[in-house]
Amino acid sequence: MAMVEVRRVTKTFGKVVALSNVSFTIEDGEFVVLLGPSGSGKTTLMYLIAGIYKPTSGQIFFDDVEVTKVPPKDRNVGLVFQNWALYPHMTIFENIAFPLTLKKMRLSQIKEKVLQVAQMLHIDSFLDRYPWQLSGGQQQRVAIGRALVKEPKILLFDEPLSNLDALLRLNVRAEIKKLQKDLKITSVYVTHDQAEALAIADKIVVLNNGFVVQIGTPDEVYTKPSHTFVASFLGNPPANLLEANLSTEEKIAYIGKSGLKHPAFDLLLRSGEKSFILAFRPEHATISTHPTSNSISCFVYTVEPMGREQIVTLQVDEHFFKVITSVDQKLEPGQNVYVLIDLSKILVYSSKTGERLF
Ligand SMILES: Nc1ncnc2c1ncn2[C@@H]1O[C@H](COP(=O)(O)OP(=O)(O)OP(=O)(O)O)[C@@H](O)[C@H]1O
Ligand SMILES: [Mg+2]
Repeated sequence: MAMVEVRRVTKTFGKVVALSNVSFTIEDGEFVVLLGPSGSGKTTLMYLIAGIYKPTSGQIFFDDVEVTKVPPKDRNVGLVFQNWALYPHMTIFENIAFPLTLKKMRLSQIKEKVLQVAQMLHIDSFLDRYPWQLSGGQQQRVAIGRALVKEPKILLFDEPLSNLDALLRLNVRAEIKKLQKDLKITSVYVTHDQAEALAIADKIVVLNNGFVVQIGTPDEVYTKPSHTFVASFLGNPPANLLEANLSTEEKIAYIGKSGLKHPAFDLLLRSGEKSFILAFRPEHATISTHPTSNSISCFVYTVEPMGREQIVTLQVDEHFFKVITSVDQKLEPGQNVYVLIDLSKILVYSSKTGERLF
């Protein structure tokens, strides 16, 4: 087991800045997810932890020992990749045993360790088969076995489920989470899938353009996104962001022609702001056919039934936003409706910087 610290790490490839001044810690036994869109620097960060890349500047520590210049083979990390690339000419046993064979371990000891790992991953009945004789999910478990058999201090996963179909992803991700908790092995898991991150992480590091935007528990990043980027990245559908204009005379915020009152808007007015971004989650608003105090007048744009619930896209002037309601609520495109946002759940962001104001 190990604690990891990434301290002010920057990584450039020629003129490309892949990571800028990234700092965070991973506690012993913690499951940390690196979450961000394509090109945000997730794989680069993972390779830096593995030792495959060296930082341009900054340091990396394992258990307070600096490993910045230590080569990968001496870091005792296990890697699981997206294309799990098993050796096709080797049996499952030989695939899992490979890292131990490299270490020239005794065969009796290798057998014992491979069997132990294979039983844990429920692949012990396939050990004589070749990779092509296994399903994708089984092959991925073999790849995890190959990483685990070395008894690494740290497990690193780079989008390990992206080659699996949707249902299998859900199953394997639950298994990875269970395995990680049982073994209490410090783990870093890279994904661009926010739902996956929320489901498995103890802590999420949100990356964008090589910068850390927020670090927090899944609950923290979901309920208190620090930046409009995080609010609009997490959730399905993600949070709505609406431009609101403050009226000095009336002390209210306007969304389109509808005025909203909230004590916090007074504070914004006093700070001299003229507009801000009002964010709320699709599950934190209701739709009614009659206006009420603080409701926003808008038009139904589309209705997408999803079984239990429906996603309703609404239009106010040139802005669109989404509300989740019960499928029992019958709504027609073009219908004029009134949306009541739960103002106790709103988030307010600066329209200049995207930072959360409160
Ligand atoms: N070896 C390299 N040479 C030059 N640029 C690179 C190299 N590796 C990564 N980059 C650049 O660094 C940035 C971060 O890349 P990285 O692979 O870490 O992103 P990622 O978050 O893993 O994306 P994805 O989700 O698509 O895998 C990108 O702009 C990428 O083009
Ligand atoms: Mg990547």
